[in-house]
Amino acid sequence: MALKYSSITKKVIMALAGLFLISFLIVHLSINLLILKNDNREAFNLAAHFMVTNPLIQTFQWVLFGGFILHILIGILLQIQNWLARPKRYKVEGYSHTSFFSKFMIHTGIVILALLALHLVNFFFKAKFGEIPSVMINGEHYEDMGILVIEKFRSLPFVLIYVFWLIFLGFHLDHAFHSALQSLGLNHSKYTPVAFGLSRVLAILIAGGFILIPVLVYIS
Ligand code: HEM
Repeated sequence: MALKYSSITKKVIMALAGLFLISFLIVHLSINLLILKNDNREAFNLAAHFMVTNPLIQTFQWVLFGGFILHILIGILLQIQNWLARPKRYKVEGYSHTSFFSKFMIHTGIVILALLALHLVNFFFKAKFGEIPSVMINGEHYEDMGILVIEKFRSLPFVLIYVFWLIFLGFHLDHAFHSALQSLGLNHSKYTPVAFGLSRVLAILIAGGFILIPVLVYIS
């Protein structure tokens, strides 16, 4: 019983952290899409500058990293618990039948995490500790984060790695949103198809939106 209770608690925490990470992805994508504007990277660089100088957002960044760590650690714990219970799993939960990708959350999650590390090394740590070229916007100096992104996406292998990563992100998200609603007890059977549909739309919009960036930068 204690195990069952703690497993439900874990799922609720996992769902809340997951929904928080989805909201981060939507903000991150909205800002990143600005790089596709034909304005010499001005809008993107101004938005990136706002994000790194706003104290509220900087504080929020720690909450974000906390959310990532919580989501990953509890995800691994739940998966181990699931593997250990494998012989009688079908008696406990039928959620593995909810969608194709639900069976591969740990696998898609590991791919996302591995390539997130590469992403942070290339962008986040460079922005924090590296030398970023500067650019003049309205007579003031700003860091040219945009050129960093564009130069990275001139390399075909890098673009392919990103597309691969983002497809896995899409697979992960396809199951994520409706699963989070289910864990939070918001899964009225009447709305289940809506939750599944919403999850798929979110997965396609978020992963597809991110994929547009390396691909369009590369071919432009
Ligand atoms: C084409 C896709 C993407 C581009 C161009 C991009 C670009 C960037 C850039 C430039 C930064 C550094 C921001 C700064 O500190 O000034 C950054 C940070 C970050 N990115 Fe991405 N990103 C992409 C996709 C993703 C995805 C799919 C995830 C999550 C799965 C992600 C997670 C993060 C995190 C956690 C940070 C550090 C926190 C932050 O700076 O807000 N990014 N990204």
